[in-house]
Amino acid sequence: MVSSKALCFFVLFSFSAIALQSAFADHEEDVGLVMNFYKDTCPQAEEIIREQVKLLYKRHKNTAFSWLRNIFHDCAVQSCDASLLLDSTRRELSEKETDRSFGLRNFRYLDTIKEAVERECPGVVSCADILVLSGRDGVVAVMNQPLGGPYIPLKTGRRDGRRSRAEILEQYLPDHNESISSVLDKFGAMGIDTPGVVALLGAHSVGRTHCVKLVHRLYPEVDPALHPDHVEHMLHKCPDAIPDPKAVQYVRNDRGTPMILDNNYYRNILDNKGLLQVDHQLANDKRTKSYVKKMAKSQDYWASEFSRALTILTENNPLTGTQGEIRKQCNVVNKHH
Ligand code: HEM
Ligand SMILES: *[C@@H]1O[C@H](CO)[C@@H](O)[C@H](O)[C@H]1NC(C)=O
Repeated sequence: MVSSKALCFFVLFSFSAIALQSAFADHEEDVGLVMNFYKDTCPQAEEIIREQVKLLYKRHKNTAFSWLRNIFHDCAVQSCDASLLLDSTRRELSEKETDRSFGLRNFRYLDTIKEAVERECPGVVSCADILVLSGRDGVVAVMNQPLGGPYIPLKTGRRDGRRSRAEILEQYLPDHNESISSVLDKFGAMGIDTPGVVALLGAHSVGRTHCVKLVHRLYPEVDPALHPDHVEHMLHKCPDAIPDPKAVQYVRNDRGTPMILDNNYYRNILDNKGLLQVDHQLANDKRTKSYVKKMAKSQDYWASEFSRALTILTENNPLTGTQGEIRKQCNVVNKHH
């Protein structure tokens, strides 16, 4: 008896749920993020992006590092909504011009990809999806050379936000010297667990860090935690306590394999050759150390955790359906709203 009553209730409930859903569908369907979102509206989209990434990467290797870093800086700040790409306006300072975004570069190559996609399907593919997919395809290009890294299948259907907000950025993006507790909290709020955080920081196995982010570990006293050989190298690259803002002075994140996204980062930080304070802490905090050791030993374990965590990061709180817009140009919002 009870079960038939429950069943009846369930059926009624489902009907009304379906009715509600179709009422929404009449207006505009919001399927959220799905695999191959553009299969009907722009079937070549992912292929165009992949081809552009390959082409641009061949010419400018470090553009792949920028695309990867973009995923962090866009998705971790509230939403993967390409707000990172917006220029400052008279009213608002853009995210990319803040101190935490220091060193972000190569945005023009992202514009090149957007232009290629627009030529094929104007006004269809969001900058937010292009940002995420170029990062993903960049990973394939730089990981595990010469074979290429794991292909991480990612959903699409993100839409572009209409605001870039420098003022909230620090709540979301950890600083170079932030405590591990705070780093774990910030990533945890996005659903990324401790091994996921450890794996993502493996991105610091490529690219560079400017002296402005490092000099506090060298001057007035050298941080005693740093490996002496590394100190020598860092002092050579960053000879001034206050770096000349016009000179491009930096240290490569991974001296061993600077152009390859691999697990060498973990061996570096265990060897006290991590550049940032967070890198160093990661290898020394009791919550993260065991994962660092495991990832230092196994490229496969690291790569699978990296893929898992990057997927979660790219799905952080997206705009979908009719939210936001499809920007025509990635650095400015569309007019007439
Ligand atoms: C606690 C979290 C993190 C902090 C505090 C942090 C901080 C930094 C800093 C200060 C730099 C140097 C920028 C410069 O001087 O040019 C950097 C570079 C970089 N970061 Fe992170 N980062 C974090 C997490 C991540 C994550 C999750 C990713 C990607 C998944 C990432 C990818 C990169 C890449 C690829 C570079 C090199 C960029 C280039 O050479 O242009 N970082 N990061
Ligand atoms: C971290 O470094 C910045 C400068 O980049 C400094 O202003 C800040 O006080 C430092 N924070 C901590 C917790 O040491």
